[in-house]
Amino acid sequence: MKHLSILAALSVAYVRAQDLNQTIVGCAELECPPSSTDSVNDDCTVAGNSFPYVGLTRIPTENEDLKGKVSWTKGFNITDASDNSRTFHSAFYLGMSPDLDLSDTGACAVLLHGVEAALSFDKVDTNKDTAQGTCSDAMGSDCVTALLNRAKKLLDSFGDDTPSSEEACAQLQDDLDKNMDNACLSISKGSWTNLTSAVLSGNGAPQSLSGDRNSSSTCWPVLPKENQLTLASEYQTNGSRLADEAQTAMYAITPILTLFFPTGNQSIVTAADASLSCLKVVGPSRASLDTINDGSQDPDSGVSKAFSSRSAFLGVAVAAVAAAWLA
Ligand SMILES: *[C@@H]1O[C@H](CO)[C@@H](O)[C@H](O)[C@H]1NC(C)=O
Ligand SMILES: *[C@@H]1O[C@H](CO)[C@@H](O)[C@H](O)[C@H]1NC(C)=O
Ligand SMILES: *[C@@H]1O[C@H](CO)[C@@H](O)[C@H](O)[C@H]1NC(C)=O
Ligand SMILES: *[C@@H]1O[C@H](CO)[C@@H](O)[C@H](O)[C@H]1NC(C)=O
Ligand SMILES: *[C@@H]1O[C@H](CO)[C@@H](O)[C@H](O)[C@H]1NC(C)=O
Ligand SMILES: *[C@@H]1O[C@H](CO)[C@@H](O)[C@H](O)[C@H]1NC(C)=O
Repeated sequence: MKHLSILAALSVAYVRAQDLNQTIVGCAELECPPSSTDSVNDDCTVAGNSFPYVGLTRIPTENEDLKGKVSWTKGFNITDASDNSRTFHSAFYLGMSPDLDLSDTGACAVLLHGVEAALSFDKVDTNKDTAQGTCSDAMGSDCVTALLNRAKKLLDSFGDDTPSSEEACAQLQDDLDKNMDNACLSISKGSWTNLTSAVLSGNGAPQSLSGDRNSSSTCWPVLPKENQLTLASEYQTNGSRLADEAQTAMYAITPILTLFFPTGNQSIVTAADASLSCLKVVGPSRASLDTINDGSQDPDSGVSKAFSSRSAFLGVAVAAVAAAWLA
């Protein structure tokens, strides 16, 4: 009875989400407030957690009742330790339309950490700051198909014993940990070591951020703004203060395998649904765009001049972020 709409999920991976003007949007579209400490960075503070960079993508499901209504947002920041080391923090928020009720629907995700360094959207855009795209762009469609097939096989293996959300993704994570598909070996370089999973519905699922936490936020990085946000997962790695390391960590692409499956008769999905999102933070910062727009008022700014001043400002933005992190 459990069938994955693999082909459906795949086909949508190739097209852009309809309501966002690109697959992944950043602070410019999400309207993050400016940083209070400089004029080129943004500060998206969500319930006390502050991120200069964020990225939002719709979960590319083909299910009509979920399509356009579920999304992932990634926030990224860096903290410096006194011993010259740094910690790179990523936070992952599930965004959900307020009319969705997951009480009869299992939902969970496996976050494929550890492979980020092997992924890029270079085929789409070699500018790491603005680069964005789909999982097919970053991992190749064979790997995407292989991962979605893995999820299908796992859910099929439960037969009529409906798993809890927690069980489903714990087992999928375990399965992926033990044996990665050949189709993905070129990008994984053989080691998918840092997978984590997140429960998104039922027992053990985190609560969505409530109204009062929303009011303590300066930023609500989801579209439309009435959608709920739930902090589903956090991840951190340590590194040195080299600017290169900061940039690699900041622009890392995190693949997220999201599952929805029926657990009761009021389920939103009638069959299991799996999709793969590839998420990174996306620039330029909104604050730097304001600066660029001011620059473009310059009467003799032609297209090429606007473009080069834009690139220059992007360089400044990244340098200023790094400088703040070096303080
Ligand atoms: C996307 O939409 C935002 C506002 O909604 C706009 O500022 C931005 O320029 C658009 N980007 C593209 C590439 O059309
Ligand atoms: C940085 O992000 C992490 C999320 O992993 C968050 O817990 C922390 O509060 C953020 N740092 C700041 C200074 O807000
Ligand atoms: C994997 O996680 C460990 C512990 O959190 C961390 O030290 C390491 O840097 C991570 N490796 C990768 C490749 O992200
Ligand atoms: C969160 O706050 C924003 C900005 O005030 C508002 O537009 C949005 O509707 C709120 N969302 C929720 C789920 O409370
Ligand atoms: C990362 O650094 C923090 C702070 O210095 C430390 O508490 C933590 O144990 C380190 N984690 C790893 C995996 O090395
Ligand atoms: C749905 O399931 C509940 C209990 O599992 C049952 O009480 C109810 O009658 C069912 N509703 C329908 C419409 O089948």
